[in-house]
Amino acid sequence: MNIHVFASGDQLDEACADLIGGIIRIKPRAVLGLATGGTPLGVYRRLIGDYRKGLVSFRHATSFNLDEYVGLPESRPESYHAYMRKNLFDHIDLPLSRAHLPNGNAADLEAECRRYDALVEEAGGIDLQLLGIGHNGHIGFNEPDRELAAGTHLVHLADTTRRANARFFNSIDEVPKQAITMGVGTILKAKMIVLIAKGADKADIVRRALEGPITTECPASLLQTHPRLIVLLDRDAAARLSPPSLKAMKGVDFQTDGYYTDLKVFSTNKLT
Ligand code: GLP
Repeated sequence: MNIHVFASGDQLDEACADLIGGIIRIKPRAVLGLATGGTPLGVYRRLIGDYRKGLVSFRHATSFNLDEYVGLPESRPESYHAYMRKNLFDHIDLPLSRAHLPNGNAADLEAECRRYDALVEEAGGIDLQLLGIGHNGHIGFNEPDRELAAGTHLVHLADTTRRANARFFNSIDEVPKQAITMGVGTILKAKMIVLIAKGADKADIVRRALEGPITTECPASLLQTHPRLIVLLDRDAAARLSPPSLKAMKGVDFQTDGYYTDLKVFSTNKLT
């Protein structure tokens, strides 16, 4: 696990966009796992900026989003399809035919889940999975539970998740009760995972996820088992982590004010 703490959210965005851009430069046909929510917005703005400056091209890349609401038309601005178009896809050269999201309006949702897993498999799996974290430790829409599904599946959203996401809708009543999400098995199979979190309201769950016991009751804690996890945090989200325990962990590179510029993680761990 590599944890980097940034003085500002902007610096985090820049470093994260550098990581994604770095992957694409090394492997133009990279398969990206993309996330929604408030946290990745700055990263996507940076990627658009880098694309406009000619620093990165997504022409040969493929992407898979983590999740989508069930029963919300793709044309609705709150859908993750619309979010991705507005905040990334409409502004870069990633062909829409290779920018995948689960179809939350499929007639047969179970078949749609199997189709999505097969597509990820056909693409060769995910090279870099970008993840945010929910206040209850969910990743994608994998909510805390006694057991978790490995593959793409249908989920009932926790009330806390619906309340948290109500800010993107007119009212909580409009927030769908179900979603399709990639499973933790698929997420953990990604060759590299980049977890990002910002803000004091994430400090507790970030500590539970990274320092707490590995449990399905905090799905993000399963990330501790991943061999190549990079965690990018702003100072507020990192506030409850304990530096001594971080330093004791093998491979941890803990910076308090540092700006992560080198991409040595790529030069030493070439993706194949
Ligand atoms: C949603 C998404 C998650 C995201 C989470 C946190 O529920 N399904 O993928 O990580 O929200 O969102 P935010 O970044 O807005 O805190």
